[in-house]
Amino acid sequence: MEDLKDKVALITGGTKGIGRGIAEALLHQGMKVTITGRDEKSTKEAATELTENDNYILGVAADVRDYESQQAAVKATLDKFGKIDVLIANAGLGHFENITDMTPQQWNETIDTNLTGVFYSVKASLEAIKESKGYMITISSLAGTNFFEKGTAYNASKFGLTGFSQALMMDVRQDDVKVTTIMPGSVSSHFGGRTPDEGTDWRIQPEDLGQLTVDLLKMHPRTLPSKVEVRPAKPPKK
Ligand SMILES: NC(=O)c1ccc[n+]([C@@H]2O[C@H](COP(=O)([O-])OP(=O)(O)OC[C@H]3O[C@@H](n4cnc5c(N)ncnc54)[C@H](OP(=O)(O)O)[C@@H]3O)[C@@H](O)[C@H]2O)c1
Repeated sequence: MEDLKDKVALITGGTKGIGRGIAEALLHQGMKVTITGRDEKSTKEAATELTENDNYILGVAADVRDYESQQAAVKATLDKFGKIDVLIANAGLGHFENITDMTPQQWNETIDTNLTGVFYSVKASLEAIKESKGYMITISSLAGTNFFEKGTAYNASKFGLTGFSQALMMDVRQDDVKVTTIMPGSVSSHFGGRTPDEGTDWRIQPEDLGQLTVDLLKMHPRTLPSKVEVRPAKPPKK
């Protein structure tokens, strides 16, 4: 996709953090963008904050854990913009507990959102993306290749997502659909209830992942960076 103007993206979890940073970058390229989130009011507010040009933005309340809700987000995007060129499967969360304290509810919420939720988003948009010979980007994590204490649920979800994304890439590249999984390290966002502030400016910023997304989408059609690790260039100041 050399020219991104008027291409259409569906971004899951675009109300804040990384998804919102990617939405800003794509809008800046002249793309039309649907963002989703769990809550109707905050999703619509975030959409209006991103741009007041109603022709370029749509906010849809859609929980990635619910397949029908993902199908409805795809339909709403097709109804408004007529096609989908890009899926950014970004929505995710983390529960970090020792296995002794990890509850079945925390486990299920993590796997249902970070892994099954991406499957649902991909499955619901697959036909449209095949039609446009488009691009799917999943947001995994360095936690999808490096394990750590208290990471049982999060590591399992992101290792699973990394594997899912690579196998998906093999399945759909015959159809001229590209798949990349981005694996960020520490990003300044609202993840885990954090608040981005000056003390977090050593981290990767959401706009940096927005820029990376634009670079991926503009890559020559013959070349596919299928798995991209991204980390802060320097460790945090002590
Ligand atoms: N921050 C990091 O250091 C880091 C590093 C590597 C990977 N990641 C990954 O990056 C992705 C985005 O995280 P973030 O750092 O941007 O966190 P964030 O600031 O907390 O944003 C998370 C986004 O996901 C949405 N979301 C959560 N559960 C959802 C659901 N069930 N259905 C629909 N939307 C849902 C949230 O929307 P609402 O709250 O409005 O529903 C929000 O827009 C996640 O997959 C995360 O695992 C983050």
